[in-house]
Amino acid sequence: MTDSPPADAPTEPSLQATRPYSPGLEGVIAGETNLSYVDGAQGRLLYRGYRIGDLVAHGTYSAVANLLWTGDWDPAARLPTAPVPDAVMHVLQALPSAAKPMDALRTAVSAWGASQDLPWPPTVEQARALTAFSPSALAAFARLRSGEQPIDPDPELDLTAGFLYQLTGERPDPGTARALDAYFIVGAEHGFNASTFTARVITSTRSDIASAVAGAIGTMKGPLHGGAPSEVVDQLSQVGSADKAEAWIRETLARGERLMGFGHRVYRAYDPRAAALRKVAEGMEHKPSWLQLATEVEDVALRILAEKHPDRLLKTNVEFYAAPVLMGVGLSPDLFPATFSLARHAGWTAHALEQAANNRLIRPDVNYVGPEERDLPT
Ligand code: ACO
Repeated sequence: MTDSPPADAPTEPSLQATRPYSPGLEGVIAGETNLSYVDGAQGRLLYRGYRIGDLVAHGTYSAVANLLWTGDWDPAARLPTAPVPDAVMHVLQALPSAAKPMDALRTAVSAWGASQDLPWPPTVEQARALTAFSPSALAAFARLRSGEQPIDPDPELDLTAGFLYQLTGERPDPGTARALDAYFIVGAEHGFNASTFTARVITSTRSDIASAVAGAIGTMKGPLHGGAPSEVVDQLSQVGSADKAEAWIRETLARGERLMGFGHRVYRAYDPRAAALRKVAEGMEHKPSWLQLATEVEDVALRILAEKHPDRLLKTNVEFYAAPVLMGVGLSPDLFPATFSLARHAGWTAHALEQAANNRLIRPDVNYVGPEERDLPT
């Protein structure tokens, strides 16, 4: 038996498409958006035209989420966390305490979707309800896994302060709440990253907003997308003290390993989110003891990376200063990726609204590279 056609068979045209293919869709324009502009060359990030640094300095996460959903800037917008429906709480109680927080959050969003009426097209109210629900669900899981009772939302608190309260049982001081809020603002939206694209593909089939966000959480769970800040914490604790930074960094790079919190696929300049978060970390009342270590290690790392890669600008990225902020507000590193997902709810749901408002099923072509047409073996 052979795969080749007989010599006298008519020549088949190739089954392969002739259009260009870009692995990973790199460089492919796959949509249009009003939501954010990521300017990698200049190190700029704009949400609906507003600079990220200004939004962090003068806004709140609730106002930024409202801006992304509606296009209106209302600095007084508030979004308290929402209660976890009983059906979802039963699901969270049934999870093993060793479950990964990202798995728990994805499961909670899926169970929430099953307990709601979410007709097409998605609405701002649906986006608001889901974004307000998820922090309560993650906080409930974090307490259940350590044998503690979940805490009901306090409607007086805005979303990030409410999340910390439901996590710890204590109302956070304003500085701590403000620091986490700033982290949520910089994490809210970032163009056509993999999880946002997932949310848009799901929405384009006229599926519901909970399915879009559950799929996006599954995408963000991968270490190539959502995992770096806890690795920054690991690396800083391995460095130990500033005087050991130079030797540690040189040895790490000599082993072919990467420095976590540096480099970016799009930014060739200092990541504007890192600059905003560094300011926040430095202004925190309860500074993590190793914030000074982080700034000293950053200086050494930037000098050595510039020396090793003179032709490729490798600068600090958002994850480097996300680590001190998240540690400083008292989160355990295994909650970092799920907390990033909570922040990105605003962007995911805003993209679901934008996709639905001008919908076209997202269904690209693929190059077939398998065997030519042939007969089954006899
Ligand atoms: N440390 C050391 N060297 C690096 C680093 C780094 N952090 N980043 C890139 N390089 C080097 C590479 O080794 C490569 O060197 P070579 O040409 O000698 O082989 C060169 O720079 C180019 O690397 P690429 O992988 O092509 O860069 P790319 O832009 O595709 O990668 C990425 C971006 C994945 C973020 C990378 O910089 C990295 O792995 N950084 C560390 C992990 C990290 O901080 N991730 C969080 C990113 S921010 C976010 O996702 C929200």
